[in-house]
Amino acid sequence: MSTTEKTGKDMSGKTKAEKYEVLAIKNEEALQGGGEARIAAQHKKGKLTARERIDLLLDEGSFEEIGKFVMHRCKDFGLDKQHYLGDGVVTGYGTINGRLVYVFSQDFTIFGGSLSETYAEKICKVMDLALKNGAPIIGLNDSGGARIQEGVVSLAGYADIFYRNTLASGVIPQISAIMGPCAGGAVYSPAITDFIMMVENTSYMFVTGPNVVKTVTHEEVTSEELGGASTHSSKSGVTHFSCANEVVCIENIKKLLGYIPQNCEDLTPQKAYEVQEELRSQLDELIPDNPNQPYDMREVITQVVDEDSFFEVHQNYAGNIVVGFAHLAGRSIGIVGNQPAVLAGVLDINASTKAARFVRFCDAFNIPLLVFEDVPGFLPGTDQEWHGIITHGAKLLYAFCEATVPRITVITRKAYGGAYDVMNSKHIGADMNFAWPTAEIAVMGAKGAAEIIFRKEIAEAEHPEEKLQEKVEEYEGKFANPYRAAHRGYIDEVIMPSITREKLIKAFQMLENKAMQLPKKKHGNIPL
Ligand code: HXC
Repeated sequence: MSTTEKTGKDMSGKTKAEKYEVLAIKNEEALQGGGEARIAAQHKKGKLTARERIDLLLDEGSFEEIGKFVMHRCKDFGLDKQHYLGDGVVTGYGTINGRLVYVFSQDFTIFGGSLSETYAEKICKVMDLALKNGAPIIGLNDSGGARIQEGVVSLAGYADIFYRNTLASGVIPQISAIMGPCAGGAVYSPAITDFIMMVENTSYMFVTGPNVVKTVTHEEVTSEELGGASTHSSKSGVTHFSCANEVVCIENIKKLLGYIPQNCEDLTPQKAYEVQEELRSQLDELIPDNPNQPYDMREVITQVVDEDSFFEVHQNYAGNIVVGFAHLAGRSIGIVGNQPAVLAGVLDINASTKAARFVRFCDAFNIPLLVFEDVPGFLPGTDQEWHGIITHGAKLLYAFCEATVPRITVITRKAYGGAYDVMNSKHIGADMNFAWPTAEIAVMGAKGAAEIIFRKEIAEAEHPEEKLQEKVEEYEGKFANPYRAAHRGYIDEVIMPSITREKLIKAFQMLENKAMQLPKKKHGNIPL
């Protein structure tokens, strides 16, 4: 008979009941995230705790924690006397609307959420599981960065995460929420993920903080100005969503997941849909008679897609192009639309990179693409040229060219110059191109064209202004319409705006089984 069986006690002198009691206390501590005072401090800053965030994010009762007894191994700077179960990050899996997701939630109440060797191992473990099992990974970030006491092992931990972010890119969706500090090299994990959401006023991201900025450039700037949600959603475009508070942020994560599949081999979730009246008569009145007058492309989008289904991405950044997800007859699609209401819908550097990244995401995750086109061309000027509009514009061109998902374009008005080619033309692999009768498909606008090709004739005319007008009208008659392109088959059909929705539903259904392979290669070389 063993000692335990005889006395009920093991080698440490504890009964089973005593052992389980200790375990229960440890569990409780782990679940509390490190005690009442720390939770109160977090709440005082207007932030939820790591566990509260997970609770909000996942379906009730679905969270299964992994590694809650993990503790750091650092013996320096007094850390050998300070241990917390879980070591500053809560990791595990659960479901959102019944679909599996993996999650890590950084706990600022423990060493400022700073990343240790073991903390990084916990994150890597759920990332590996997510990749192997083909489900999204969601990171809730709230951290002071590398755990300073641990030195290089913490840096190594970050690198292990970056490596996994990159391997997982294009295989499973990766979503980052920034809910507190995210500074230094730590920003590069979210940056590699597919979408970043930031919470207004309580989160910030920067490579170097205000103090370093002041020392190096003598600029005085607050954390919020330098890297808050409003800065990164409007100026830098680093974040795709700026959220009023943490609850909105978490709701946005759930909403976003509703449009995207579990992994790159999965299909997008399908909503129930019954055929209804698909005519959208208001669209026939939408395009102004004057081609220089703006209108809001969002109105076109919301009229065409299923009611209340448009979910805009990067709403505050590069407003001259609109991108986002929607449902069309219950199916997820990705939408890219030039926005005539901002800078006449011209393509510039920011618009090109914004749309290119979105197109690549959709293509990686089997989300069909719909383009609404009204574009006067690329933005001229030294600023754009010197900052590389050639390279950046090429990103959008490249992204469309390599996309193999079903691709449809509707030209609502202008399709001028190189932008006609770039905006998902049939020449670069789009499956269907429709045009409204208001479409103008030409090398440039009629006035500019007439001034160039009839320069001499206009200069020598008795009344140059009248001559110019005559030539503008001649050019408009020939090119300010969709029919030349339609005669050649570049446009598949000229349609009334009101039947656009019906046409698109049918065309996407027709393309449902599209299968296409790119030439065998290691990977392409997108102009970065
Ligand atoms: C260890 C840290 C820490 C860190 C914060 N703490 N950051 N411990 N390593 N990186 C601890 C604090 O000592 C404090 O412990 C507790 O967390 C809360 O921090 P506070 O400063 O009291 O909070 P707050 O006033 O809200 O300020 C938050 C903060 C600040 C702005 C994040 O803590 C800060 O500046 N931390 C250092 C940030 C930093 O430089 N990190 C390294 C970046 S370089 P006590 O015990 O007092 O409660 C980096 C490289 C990554 O991350 C490279 C990847 C390639």
